[in-house]
Amino acid sequence: MELIPPGAEILIPAAEIERRVAEIAGEITASYEDRSLVVIPLLKGGFMFAADLVRRLRIGSGVTLEFVGASSYGEETSSSGEVRLTLDTSTPLAGRDVLLVEDIIDTGLTLAYIQKLVLSRVPASLRTAVLLDKKARRRVDVEVSWVGFEIPDRFVFGYGLDGPGGLYRNLGDIFALAPEDRR
Ligand code: PRP
Repeated sequence: MELIPPGAEILIPAAEIERRVAEIAGEITASYEDRSLVVIPLLKGGFMFAADLVRRLRIGSGVTLEFVGASSYGEETSSSGEVRLTLDTSTPLAGRDVLLVEDIIDTGLTLAYIQKLVLSRVPASLRTAVLLDKKARRRVDVEVSWVGFEIPDRFVFGYGLDGPGGLYRNLGDIFALAPEDRR
């Protein structure tokens, strides 16, 4: 039995995530056809979505992986708006087709920062896939090509996203704290 915080409930079960990830992977495969693609999971939160997504991609000329790490300074459940780069790519992105893979878009500040960084390396194209979209909290406009699920303004964790105490990234379902537990 998985230990989860009291008051937490499953918001999106693993089976539903799997179904949606397969759908998105199909769309991405169709849109890149026989080009080659550099997939960049945004760490830490994007690791599980990216792992499930890339294993389903069937891009003709192949997929390579780079990794970018970003962390927003702030309280545990909401970002302060300051983004810190914790890991950068190791090969040039110039002239490449790049796909950023992220777990959640909240204020949009992290993705806006990372997209700007990637675009400064002059890729042939840049598109973004995000599993969860918390639209109500958006502070900056960000272009996203694929969204898994729109979710309400609740503290969510599991499937890559950290919960209370930095735990629960390993869980296969996406959980939400009861609204009164939000700190
Ligand atoms: C979380 C999440 C996104 C970002 C979204 O990352 O993984 O990257 O916040 O929030 P925003 O749209 O308001 O910028 P966090 O900084 O917690 O780092 P992590 O991925 O290592 O958990």
